[in-house]
Amino acid sequence: MESPWKPYLKENILDPYPMYKALRDYEPIHRARTGEWVVTEYEAARSILKDSRFLVGNRAAWLEKASTQHLDKWESFSVIVDALKSFVVFKNPPDHTLLRKFIMQAWNNREVDAIIKGNIDAIFNTLDPTRFDLATELAAPLPAMTMTKILGLPIEDYKYLENLSHEMIHSLDLYLTFRQIERMKNATEEFAAYFEKFAADKLKNPDDSLLSRLVHLNKDQQIPHHELMGNCFFLFIAGEETTAGLIELGLYHLILNEELNKSFQEQKIPSLATEELLRFDSPAQIVVRIASEECEIARHKFEKEAAVTICLGAANRDPGKFERPDELILDRTPNHHLAFASGIHRCLGDWLAKREFEILLDELTTRFNRFELLSQPVWKENLNMRSLRSLYISCR
Ligand code: HEM
Repeated sequence: MESPWKPYLKENILDPYPMYKALRDYEPIHRARTGEWVVTEYEAARSILKDSRFLVGNRAAWLEKASTQHLDKWESFSVIVDALKSFVVFKNPPDHTLLRKFIMQAWNNREVDAIIKGNIDAIFNTLDPTRFDLATELAAPLPAMTMTKILGLPIEDYKYLENLSHEMIHSLDLYLTFRQIERMKNATEEFAAYFEKFAADKLKNPDDSLLSRLVHLNKDQQIPHHELMGNCFFLFIAGEETTAGLIELGLYHLILNEELNKSFQEQKIPSLATEELLRFDSPAQIVVRIASEECEIARHKFEKEAAVTICLGAANRDPGKFERPDELILDRTPNHHLAFASGIHRCLGDWLAKREFEILLDELTTRFNRFELLSQPVWKENLNMRSLRSLYISCR
């Protein structure tokens, strides 16, 4: 049988779940034609994520490879490579352990609910609730505004930062064009200059923001300064497109499904719903790892340096783990999904993404009692990050 793994086909990017199912049935740990292993089974995915022999992929080396056709331009790519190397998500222990602990130490949950609520008010002050684009007018600005405020940056800059973030998010793509790499390079330089300026300002005028706490905590340069700056903009990127995905996919499924829409309108959405929506259609679909040594896991032998593509979205629909996996069961429990991955790199901002979505649901049901889809969803064509380009909805 021909391999069902065809991540480049548009139909699979728009709806990867049939491909995942075929792949799980065919070979849950599958060697792709391009050489990497593709994992679609829950237990194998979770075991690899929790196994210290699997390291985060060396994105920089990979990017270097991707740009071999453009060697004359390589000099300019080093800016991106350096930034990527500093991101906590691409670091391995012991550096990862130190950096993750450092970020968590600076993080302050106080006032987050008030920030989110204020941003929702500001968004609804300017849009027409009877017809608006969920993706561009609500789902994208809410997390961008929230991260801007949490970091302590001027709120009017959120759109600028959001645009830079959209260029940088391509660093997670499986395949990149030269044009994308060039735009990522420009975005990296702009991000770095922007955060440099505000970090200097926070050093002189401290406040309770995340950026201020990070730069003050690092006065003794425990983390090299350029690495800290890289992680400041990584936090913005990590908290933005993923949460937008949750808002888009979550609301889309709630409104599309008649029964759920009725519960939504009647304010009967269970508190467990966010977890189930994350499981059912996960915004982050793929993470990658590299085997640091030959090892056996889930009855499977991985060679040293094996590259592994872990399909979180597929693991979250594995019937071996979840009963009736293709159904949205809002009060599903237990629900140990992998939407935020697992192990040492498990998402650091899961609580924030969930708060944004839950407060939004609350606000929507308080303000309105009828929700309708006014258009078909237009998907962003990215298998790694599942989100919408546009979807018109109405709230009355
Ligand atoms: C629904 C929204 C979100 C989803 C689906 C999501 C998903 C993920 C996933 C799958 C990973 C693991 C990557 C890997 O193992 O290679 C991750 C890591 C991370 N996420 Fe999130 N994320 C979300 C929201 C956020 C938010 C709001 C923040 C806050 C800034 C954030 C910050 C991070 C950070 C810092 C890491 C790296 C952690 C580490 O490497 O130790 N994420 N996220």
